[in-house]
Amino acid sequence: MAAEKRILVTGGSGLVGKAIQEIIEKEKEPNEEWIFLSSKDGDLSDLEETRSIFSKHRPTHVIHLAAMVGGLFKNMRRPADFLRINLQINDCVLHCSYEFKIQKCVSCLSTCIFPDKTSYPIDETMVHNGPPHPSNYGYAYAKRMIDIQNRAYHDQYGCTFTSVIPTNIYGPCDNFNLEDSHVIPGLIHKCYLAKKNDQPLTIFGSGKPLRQFIYSKDLAKLFVWVLRNYEDVDPIILSVGEEDEVSISRVAELIVEGMEFKGQVIYDISKSDGQYKKTASNMKLKSLYPDFKFTDIKTGIFETVQWFQENYDSARI
Ligand SMILES: NC(=O)c1ccc[n+]([C@@H]2O[C@H](COP(=O)([O-])OP(=O)(O)OC[C@H]3O[C@@H](n4cnc5c(N)ncnc54)[C@H](OP(=O)(O)O)[C@@H]3O)[C@@H](O)[C@H]2O)c1
Repeated sequence: MAAEKRILVTGGSGLVGKAIQEIIEKEKEPNEEWIFLSSKDGDLSDLEETRSIFSKHRPTHVIHLAAMVGGLFKNMRRPADFLRINLQINDCVLHCSYEFKIQKCVSCLSTCIFPDKTSYPIDETMVHNGPPHPSNYGYAYAKRMIDIQNRAYHDQYGCTFTSVIPTNIYGPCDNFNLEDSHVIPGLIHKCYLAKKNDQPLTIFGSGKPLRQFIYSKDLAKLFVWVLRNYEDVDPIILSVGEEDEVSISRVAELIVEGMEFKGQVIYDISKSDGQYKKTASNMKLKSLYPDFKFTDIKTGIFETVQWFQENYDSARI
């Protein structure tokens, strides 16, 4: 007998998708079937390919993660690609979710799409309150449009499309490429090479910017909770609390400790720091899911460093 819920996860082979796979192996409900897609299953920026994927799997629910993703420097180099490819992917996935009468579609925004000039802490009502930081406006505007699309499909067709807003994510299976990665995987890879080659570890920027990081396994649990329990169209921020914001230099210290790197650490202040901070409030999440326990950043970084060292040959480097 076919499962009642067939949940299609776009971007199922990425950092977040892999973490959801791991959680689902332990927490799958009997009436659920989960399908995890990678780009090998088809190009979701192409409407016909997306339709044929939906037609093949006939999902009832969608978790939409697929996106062109990258760190600060890749975002600064390729704003047009970030804008166009992400707009196309989102349009194809959301329109097919409408055409195939999906019961709920949960898409993924990011706290880095919020206005550059804003009051803190940022909350879910502030997504569209001013231009994003110039370093990632292509990605930011494409992501902001998901919220507009969700409302439009809801208002015109009654669709239950919603979105979550994670802060910076890190964990096993991330993209550790030195040019294109986010700060934690990039620093882990650099530290690994500095240790191996007996060289100093150079960190781009001053180390002073502050960030809230969420461990991919925590985010995966929260994604599953949102799919099963959250009914609003309006987005929900998935983040550790404001008190758990850490500086990039603290993150670097933890990586150095986890990797047991004994060499010199240098901050290259000729490189951009990006946005100084983007403190987000997790009050909405806490009010709806007060018992959720986040992994502390030291444990999360140590586990990620260990995973990277054990999987260096197969990791995305
Ligand atoms: N990483 C962060 O810090 C962060 C923070 C906030 C929000 N987010 C959001 O979280 C979501 C997941 O991010 P992630 O870090 O897990 O990304 P990721 O590791 O880079 O994975 C991206 C996923 O999207 C797939 N994909 C990319 N382009 C595609 C296309 N044209 N057609 C089909 N599939 C395509 C990739 O498939 P392949 O593996 O086959 O390439 C992969 O499964 C994204 O929506 C991202 O914007 C990420």
